Amino acid sequence: MSPAQIDVEDLRFELYISASDIARRINELSEEIGSKYKNKKPVFIAVLNGSFVFAADFFKIYPHPCQIEFVKFKSYHGTESNQAPELLLSGLNESDIAERPVIILEDIVDTGYTLTAFMRLLSTYHPESLAVLSLLVKPEKLRFDLKIDYAGFNISNEFVVGYGMDYNGYGRNIPAIYRKYE
Ligand code: IMP
Ligand code: MG
Repeated sequence: MSPAQIDVEDLRFELYISASDIARRINELSEEIGSKYKNKKPVFIAVLNGSFVFAADFFKIYPHPCQIEFVKFKSYHGTESNQAPELLLSGLNESDIAERPVIILEDIVDTGYTLTAFMRLLSTYHPESLAVLSLLVKPEKLRFDLKIDYAGFNISNEFVVGYGMDYNGYGRNIPAIYRKYE
């Protein structure tokens, strides 16, 4: 059982989405995506760091042939920079992506800035199709014209930690999702 409240660094958080609700939703998503991509051998691309817990749980129960790759971006959050996010780590080759159905795995889409830049980059690798699966989406904060094909949970504009997501690098190991306690 997850505690009702936790502290991460100097902030207090309250339980928001339980580990069992997350697991149930991931099962549904795996079935939905599996039925569509059954014979297509999709390439999942997990965006580090935040999505690694979600990506692992989703990948373990996805029941059809598939591959996974990882990318990591330097984020410019909280700055005025309008630079494209810088790719820090990538195992991607055009030969892995070209003519393949690609599904990006994200932990959370906030403004959509990172994802928009990444999708632009990926399209230069000529995937057969490109879809997005994000465990969480904050629709009120989305500032880009982005289609999130598969969303685990739509949440309001709140700061969350746990299940891979962090506050100042901490909280990723918490098995449920918590929101900032006001
Ligand atoms: P975006 O570029 O504004 O969409 O932000 C995307 C990234 O910021 C996500 O993939 C997360 O890594 C991080 N992020 C956004 N909102 C939260 C949050 O509420 N908690 C923890 N990380 C977040
Ligand atoms: Mg992320």
